[in-house]
Amino acid sequence: MLKKILKRTRNILRYGLSEEGRARKRADKAAARDKRFESGLWERDGELARRKYGSYEEYVEHQAAKLDNIVHRLEETRSDDYADFVRRFEGCAGLRKSRNVLCLGARLGTEVQAMHSLGLFAIGIDLNPGPDNLYVVKGDFHAIQFPDASVDAVYTNVFDHVYDMGKMIAEIERIIPVGGLLVADVLKGFEEGFVPGAYEATHWKNVDALLTEILRLGHFDLLERRDLGQVRRDHWIQLVLQKRQA
Ligand SMILES: C[S@@+](CC[C@H](N)C(=O)[O-])C[C@H]1O[C@@H](n2cnc3c(N)ncnc32)[C@H](O)[C@@H]1O
Repeated sequence: MLKKILKRTRNILRYGLSEEGRARKRADKAAARDKRFESGLWERDGELARRKYGSYEEYVEHQAAKLDNIVHRLEETRSDDYADFVRRFEGCAGLRKSRNVLCLGARLGTEVQAMHSLGLFAIGIDLNPGPDNLYVVKGDFHAIQFPDASVDAVYTNVFDHVYDMGKMIAEIERIIPVGGLLVADVLKGFEEGFVPGAYEATHWKNVDALLTEILRLGHFDLLERRDLGQVRRDHWIQLVLQKRQA
């Protein structure tokens, strides 16, 4: 909370509250984004951008290392995160009708617990679920350990951590039946003001570009697109997609 107040104060001192100040803040964000893309860490691929990894193993190692670096911060924000997940899921009619949900990239399982509070059966997978996790088991969403058509719905908010979108979408499509749901909470794109952080592995120009890519790679119809608003420093959009017959 204190950190949040300090950050907001710093921003007000730096940019003020006028429209002109907000425009300067947006321009600074865009410059920071361009600097990252030009730094050689990322490569642009059409309307997507990918972090450069030497190998798949390097990607796995990088992603799995995140938890240890942020575990203290997570403890501080966990109850706010939980309340926010409950809000996101309460408003998602499709998800609430599903009997069971697999959460991809669920880390410590905050989203899984939020689903339990709404009466859903849910479990998560993550490259690094930490020790003794009751809600999330170790797993990679590029090669999910569960059988075909074994869950009604998949939830994820980690499209920005994907290494190979084609493999991930194929796996999601495999484990849900026709009529099953993919609920994806996604960040805005790099041309919409989002600046990738230290662990993002994939990003997109804007949400339309990501949606187009998902629809190109898989057999889904878009049922709903909801603006979830600002959650801490990021703005989230919820995409509800339904698997159709291939
Ligand atoms: C930004 S965190 C999101 C965690 C959680 N969904 C939440 O909102 O609290 C991204 C998570 O994705 C996980 N992850 C990255 N690549 C993955 C993969 N290929 N398979 C499974 N999990 C992965 C990371 O370990 C990390 O816990």
